[in-house]
Amino acid sequence: MGTALVTGATSGIGLELAWQLAAARHHLVLVARDAARLDDVARQVRAAAGVDVEVLPADVGDPAGRAAVADRLRQPTRPVGLLVNNAGFSPGQLFVGGDLAVEENALEVMVRAVLELSHAAAPAMVRRGRGAILNVSSMSAFTAMGTYAAAKSWVLVFTEALAAELAGTGVTATALCPGLVRTEFHRRAGLDASTWPAVGWTDVEQVAAEALAGVRRGRVVVIPSARYRAAALVLRHAPRPLVRSLLGPRTSGRALRRRR
Ligand SMILES: NC(=O)c1ccc[n+]([C@@H]2O[C@H](COP(=O)([O-])OP(=O)(O)OC[C@H]3O[C@@H](n4cnc5c(N)ncnc54)[C@H](OP(=O)(O)O)[C@@H]3O)[C@@H](O)[C@H]2O)c1
Repeated sequence: MGTALVTGATSGIGLELAWQLAAARHHLVLVARDAARLDDVARQVRAAAGVDVEVLPADVGDPAGRAAVADRLRQPTRPVGLLVNNAGFSPGQLFVGGDLAVEENALEVMVRAVLELSHAAAPAMVRRGRGAILNVSSMSAFTAMGTYAAAKSWVLVFTEALAAELAGTGVTATALCPGLVRTEFHRRAGLDASTWPAVGWTDVEQVAAEALAGVRRGRVVVIPSARYRAAALVLRHAPRPLVRSLLGPRTSGRALRRRR
């Protein structure tokens, strides 16, 4: 895979993916908004793994930030073999009466950035006859839990379509659908996850390892952990009215009302 570019690489799933990619001897381009935190991560990864690490501070929710990342992906002299579209967040609000700017930003970060960066990366990969795109979706993609679920459903179907279009080119596209993972995600959304049952959580190391194994095998959809694979099977075959009533906006609404 050569060099991997990871968005949202300073925390949680993106940070763990960066460490595992560095351990597998990939050079890295790390993207996030917090430049000081990016520098810290880069210094640690360089020292521990001895790989090249570039930092690219950028807000992928902003057109200028996305353009900077897209320019880096198109650079012919420093090819990127793996693009990881991981940056994301939960709007942490119900849609009705919520802040529209937050909803728009969620679409920019989790949909538009995935679209534009995949569009920037794929042509050069196809010309080289190798490469991979890993888009971080979510188990929410199989539910109806608010606009976050809608955005992650888009990521899942977009990636399936991209994988089909890329078939036979040597380039692959993979959607990662994690369940609950302990990262900064829930705190940033103002959600109190402390009382959620232990059985629901997946280790971030396992999520990243299964994601990268899936990319190496050219898998189109990766759902880390057997119990979430079983849940996805049920959700994919369950009647949608049942899914909406069990895992719809009312469920996310209850979580939001339990905020700290
Ligand atoms: N944790 C879960 O339970 C879970 C489950 C399923 C799917 N996911 C998905 O997994 C992905 C990673 O989430 P996580 O749990 O690892 O969350 P996290 O710990 O909050 O990390 C989010 C990362 O994204 C970066 N980021 C956020 N907004 C950005 C922006 N506008 N531009 C550039 N970078 C941005 C953050 O850095 P800066 O703040 O410095 O920009 C940080 O590095 C997301 O797409 C999320 O939807 C998470």
